[in-house]
Formats: sequence, C-alpha cells, structure tokens
Amino acid sequence: MSSLAFVEELELEELHLVRDRATGLRAAVAIHDRTLGPARGGTRLRRYDSLEAVARDAGRLARAMSHKFAVHGLPYGGGKAVILQDEAGARDRALLEARLRAYGEFLNRLGGEFGTGPDYGIGAAEVAVLRSATDHAVGVHSHGLAGRATAAGVRVAIEAGLRAQGLDLAGARVVVQGVGAVGAHLARDLAARGARVAISDVDLERAAALARELGADLLDPASCLSAEADVLAPCATGDVLTSDSIPALRCRVVAGAANEQLAPPELEQAQRLSEAGIIYIPDFVANGGGAILLTGCGEEGRAEDLPRTEQRVAETVRQVCERAAASGCTHYEAAVALAEQRLRVDGVDRAGGEAYPLGS
Ligand code: PHE
Repeated sequence: MSSLAFVEELELEELHLVRDRATGLRAAVAIHDRTLGPARGGTRLRRYDSLEAVARDAGRLARAMSHKFAVHGLPYGGGKAVILQDEAGARDRALLEARLRAYGEFLNRLGGEFGTGPDYGIGAAEVAVLRSATDHAVGVHSHGLAGRATAAGVRVAIEAGLRAQGLDLAGARVVVQGVGAVGAHLARDLAARGARVAISDVDLERAAALARELGADLLDPASCLSAEADVLAPCATGDVLTSDSIPALRCRVVAGAANEQLAPPELEQAQRLSEAGIIYIPDFVANGGGAILLTGCGEEGRAEDLPRTEQRVAETVRQVCERAAASGCTHYEAAVALAEQRLRVDGVDRAGGEAYPLGS
C-alpha cells in the first residue's frame, strides 16, 4: 500500500511537508476541509519516528478539527500542523525558536488559509516566537485561557454523560489521565465541584504535586485506564480507546480533552464502548472549548469569553445527547452526523455574532 494512502482515506484537501535546510525544521501542515471557512487548528510539537508519521498525524488531527468546528457551529475548516521534535530541538532552545520562525514564514506563504495556535507541546511562549514571524497564530496573550476553556467544556460533557447514566458529578469518582495544560484545570474544577478525583501523568512529579494540592488519589499511568471509576477523562494522548483497552475499562462515562481518543476503526470502538454500557462523549465535542475561545471570540479569547465558550459547548453537548437519544445511536454517531449535516447541508450561521475571522 502506498504510504500516501492516508491522504485519500482521510479525504485531505491539502498536505504540505516542510523541510528547512538551515534549521532542520521538519513539519507537516494538513488542511482537511474548508467548506465552512479557512482552516484553523493547533500546532503540535512531538517526537515521531518519521516524517510520514508526522504527516499522518497532522492529517488525522485536521479531520478532527473539521468535525470540531462543524459540530460547534463555527465558520472554519479543519487544519492541523505537526512539528517533529528531536534531540537537538529538545536540547537547544535557540534552535527550536529558529525552527518556529521558519515554520511561521511558511505559514505566511499559505496566506491565512491556515491559522494556528497552541496544542500538545506548543504553549504561549512558543506561539509568541511564532508570532514574531507570522500574523497567522493566536494564543499569546490568552496564556492558559485556552486550557481553561477546554477544561470547562470537558467538565460540561462529563456532567452530561453522568446525567445520562443517572449519576451526579458531586461524589462521582473521575480518573483524569494527563494533567498538563488542560487536565490540571479539569482536575481542579472537578474537585471544587465535589467529585472524587484520581489523577495520573507520565510526569510523575507534576502528578504528585497536583495530587497533594487536591488531596486526589495518584494512579499509575500504565494502569489508570482500567481503574474503577464513574468517569474516565483521557487528557493525555490519542488512541487510548482500542479493542484491547475497552474490555478492561471499569467506568460508566468516557469524556476527555485528548484529540483522537478512538483508535481506528473509530466507529467500531464507539460501538464497543456502547455495548459495554459506557457513554462516550466524543472528543471533538467535549474538547471544543479551546478552539471556540481562540477562533470564535475575536482576535483571541479573553477571560470574559469563558462563560459563553462554556455555554457553546454545553449547547452542542445537549444537541448531541438529544440526537443520540432520539435515534438510538451512539453519541459518536450522533456527533459525526451533526457535523456532517453542517458541512454538507446546512452550513453554519455566520450572522450569529459569535464568529470572527482570525486576526480581525
Ligand atoms: N489545539 C486546540 C484544539 O485541538 C485549540 C486550537 C484550536 C488552537 C484552533 C488553535 C486553533 O482544539
């Protein structure tokens, strides 16, 4: 099979590969679907085995962004960029910053067809460097806000999932896998609302510090997925819901911040979860808060935008739950159908006063 078969399978509109000789930058920018507007999506910085793996991940994550914008009714297309992290980039900050600037210059060549912001491995400091080379990046001033907005939406999704199982957040046991830019806010928010929180992170020190702060249980990252709980909130990396991991789950609800939680084939995993009596609120529904804040609230989100961001996620979650209940399908199928309907039939309401182009 051709190593580019994923471009067809994911139905990407564009895939750009970037190799900058001077800095050693290796990156992929994937644009999935611009039916609703120009492409937006975070930039991820991570280690990968090959440029092909970088491109494939960018493509999959770009598709998720198309679904995310469509399901939440924002006039943007799905895009995502991935920068390959390596030894040299991890060791040498000046080199990493030179790569970020080279990447920014590449974004200028795309002329706003792709606008970006924070994601896994890219925070406000890295976006600030990018901004020195391009206008097509947001998330410098809203330091930590995108993470808070995402966490608030995930909490709303968790509450909806619990409600559908006849449970309340107060007293519920929630396992938060990954306590980084989003998971830590989520754990604090849940604990403040009376949930019994258990956390894990591959960074053992940061997990231990947060567990002490919250009086939360500390779980082993290797086994936290199958811990007994009411809710599992994957907030680390993708592909955690597989044909191996699902039968071992001991929770009633899965809802978290990580992108691409379902390993392919996604529909099969969603059905497997449903057969096990587990409600899965799809990642692109639950984790839309950051995208809404960064693209839907003016040039970039402000603290005052947090409440309406949360309301927007709550409204989408409500629509998805209603559709799933009415048609007897999984929440995943309901969310994909809703997104597809906006992409192919209805479009989104640009006059809603909620959406502004990046940089306006
Ligand atoms: N990276 C985040 C996400 O996956 C937030 C983001 C959205 C950043 C859009 C930039 C643009 O949703």
